[in-house]
Amino acid sequence: MSDSVKKICVLPGDGIGAEIVASALAVLKQVAARAGFDVELYEEAIGGAAIDAFNNPLPDQTLRRCMESDAVLLGAVGGPKWDPNPPALKPETGLLALRKALGLYGNLRPVKMLPVLIGCSTLKPEVVGGVDMVVVRELTGGLYFGTPRGVSGEPGKETGFNNMVYQRHEIERIARKAFELARRRRRKVASVDKANVLEVCQLWRKVVTEVAGEYPDVELNHILVDNCAMQMVLRPAQFDVLLTENMFGDILSDIGGVLTGSIGTLPSASVGDGPALYEPIHGSAPDIAGKDIANPVGTINSVAMMFEYSFDRPDLAKQINDAVSGVLNDGCRTADIAGSGTRVVGTREFTERIQEKLR
Ligand code: IPM
Ligand code: MG
Repeated sequence: MSDSVKKICVLPGDGIGAEIVASALAVLKQVAARAGFDVELYEEAIGGAAIDAFNNPLPDQTLRRCMESDAVLLGAVGGPKWDPNPPALKPETGLLALRKALGLYGNLRPVKMLPVLIGCSTLKPEVVGGVDMVVVRELTGGLYFGTPRGVSGEPGKETGFNNMVYQRHEIERIARKAFELARRRRRKVASVDKANVLEVCQLWRKVVTEVAGEYPDVELNHILVDNCAMQMVLRPAQFDVLLTENMFGDILSDIGGVLTGSIGTLPSASVGDGPALYEPIHGSAPDIAGKDIANPVGTINSVAMMFEYSFDRPDLAKQINDAVSGVLNDGCRTADIAGSGTRVVGTREFTERIQEKLR
């Protein structure tokens, strides 16, 4: 085995995870083989599947394998079956622990309107036309990880609490990611906060403003999170890079699914100092799992991001993106993005069409 072999840890997870990951792997293998690019795949359990098999949403073996890999591909985690579980045995806890353990502090979520899907949005074409932004979501801090956290007090008088906590260095490093990315785009960063109410956001705003001083060629605006939610549906094309706290980014990036027609099409990359993790931004969709109707585009385009960011092969990323666009242009669609004059196909057939384009 040569050094050029890339090890990829594959984590299908729950619900539609197995189907969409199978699609993405078919595309990945094909593109890699054609380019003479060696990959080794290792499948491991995470989330509900790992709870069922190992009573642990992030088994040691899974974490070890991820750490030893060059990149990680994940489907989705969660489902009603595990909802009643205590926090330590929830599928989502496994994903959050993985992000934390791999130090994946930056989550990049591109939201780009494909002209061919403009009719799929519930918003008017003149509103969503030209949408092309990236949500840069802080991923290992903020409200998701702040302590103390919990529910205390006797039954009938309980108090539930979480904390939004950020240290200066955590804000600095994610801000730099946003400014660096903006330099390769339209050079505009909108930093999202709630500085009119929350002290943690006052620090966020101050630190982001300081970091902006290192990037005089990038324009910085601060926007309150409530106004940002409104602007995203009112005039979404104004945004280039949106820099957000962990939970603000979780919420706002789902709006991206409405702008572009379906959350099923949106990919993401989570980056830190070690191996990066690639996953669609949608959830496990248990209601449609196993029916061969899930949209695999978010996961396939996550593989494209993997080629670009982890393997420095933007050419292969473009091949994948182009093949996906090509199939959509042909009028071939999964049910979530069906429209008049299109032909609805299942996950597998949609994937085969993409593979044909790549041949
Ligand atoms: C996401 C998801 C996760 C999150 C869940 C599954 C824990 O909603 O990646 O956006 O909240 O980060
Ligand atoms: Mg989410």
